[in-house]
Amino acid sequence: MADQLTVIVLAAGGGTRMKSKTMKVLHRIGGRSMIGHVLGAVGGLGPTRVCAVVGHQREQVGPHILESLPDAVLAVQEEQLGTGHAVRVALDALAEEGRAIDGGTVLIAYGDTPLLEGATLRWFAAEHEAAQAAVSILSGVVEEPRGYGRIVRDSEGDVLAIVEEKDATDEQRQIREINSGILAFDAGFLVDAIGRVGNDNAKGEYYLTDTVQIARDSGLTVTAFPVDDVWQTEGANDRAQLAVLGRELNRRIVTRWMKDGVTVLDPETTWIDADVVLAADVTLLPGTQLLGTTVVAEDAVIGPDTTLEDCEVGEGARVVRTHGQQAVIGAGANVGPFSYLRPGTTLGAGGKIGAFVETKNAQIGDGAKVPHLSYVGDAEIGEGTNIGAGTIFANYDGVDKHRTKVGKHARTASNNTFVAPVTIGDGAATGAGTVVRKDVPPGALAVSMGQQRNLEGWAQRKRAGTAQAAAAEAATAATAEGDDR
Ligand code: UD1
Ligand code: CA
Repeated sequence: MADQLTVIVLAAGGGTRMKSKTMKVLHRIGGRSMIGHVLGAVGGLGPTRVCAVVGHQREQVGPHILESLPDAVLAVQEEQLGTGHAVRVALDALAEEGRAIDGGTVLIAYGDTPLLEGATLRWFAAEHEAAQAAVSILSGVVEEPRGYGRIVRDSEGDVLAIVEEKDATDEQRQIREINSGILAFDAGFLVDAIGRVGNDNAKGEYYLTDTVQIARDSGLTVTAFPVDDVWQTEGANDRAQLAVLGRELNRRIVTRWMKDGVTVLDPETTWIDADVVLAADVTLLPGTQLLGTTVVAEDAVIGPDTTLEDCEVGEGARVVRTHGQQAVIGAGANVGPFSYLRPGTTLGAGGKIGAFVETKNAQIGDGAKVPHLSYVGDAEIGEGTNIGAGTIFANYDGVDKHRTKVGKHARTASNNTFVAPVTIGDGAATGAGTVVRKDVPPGALAVSMGQQRNLEGWAQRKRAGTAQAAAAEAATAATAEGDDR
């Protein structure tokens, strides 16, 4: 490639058809904003400089762009006077920042084409440079060209112009080769030509595409390279198109992981974000969503019906019908069905979080188990400990949150409440129904319930005339008869 590569990303338009308070390019698919996908592809090229043109809602869009590419120059286009104007604004902003373009290739991309791949841009730039063209067009041959600028070629096949839909003759509207919007320029030509673009057309806009005619008039070379995979240049203007692109993006991501050795039972109902990382021999069952920066190690089985966001799943772990966020699940651990792992949950190797268990900010040790019907908040549970069914870690006193610590190899019984802050020692035990308010020393058995008393004949006296009393009466009589024999 040329010694210098500049990329200009246009993202000043409003995107009113989204009918949203969120700017179009910030709408998300595959775990990133649309412009986030574009900037990812652009960043992968290692460009000399990147300029993003922002306008509508730039206070949202600008910082978002800088998060992806901190080095990018933001150019503000106050009024959207057309793509040609937008590029002029970009060139001015680069000059003002002391980063004026002084050679090489300039690529123009849009912020709303999330399926665009870096490899395509790299190929296109290389073709453009090999052709020594002043302008190159990434074109596409489509079934339905409506709305796009058409590529007009002469009888030799040389590109003459791009004609916008509104300015096209009926004959030109039949052309199915369209301008994707992605253009490559020789830097010197662009700097010179951009000032010569006028706005004498149907829309009264400064069309960047007029540079094609300008190049031709100067006897310079113009080329167009059709891209086979037209999905890569598709933009989403409304939410229906966003969903279509989102499904296609997901199909591509899922297919890539299957080729890399991941078993996916039902690709249609499996959703994997762009930044998720999976190892070989992971199995994903139907209805699984792996979101954000989730990482899954070898031989883990996830699903069915599981959502994991920013989670880490260890080798050979099993996660069934679970909702997890920012949780770490150890190797060989078991989670679910119907578990809710909230941020700060860490489950050790071979541990278990079972049915109807909610955890938050909880470090559960290797081989430790919370099998049934429990809430574990702000807790540390040592290795090999078993927490009884229906245990509540009462972490909140109405004002502050407190921590509970349970040691190693402890055995706590059913229906306990641990009132934090409290510590249960290594090897300690509790009785069923215990409310632990005081620390339990290592090896001690804690019981907090009083002795059980039975008030004989209570139902017959206090509930006389009810079915309960009648049943008690009958059972008592039967027992008495049995005694007679
Ligand atoms: C443009 C092309 C057309 C191409 C089509 C592909 C021109 C004149 N036309 O048409 O040939 O087939 O894209 O989708 O270039 N933008 C700005 N500032 C502006 C105007 C636009 O930043 O002043 C940005 C928009 O946010 C958008 C992109 O540029 O990301 C394209 O603008 P849009 O108005 O959609 O251009 P089209 O009319 O679709
Ligand atoms: Ca458009």
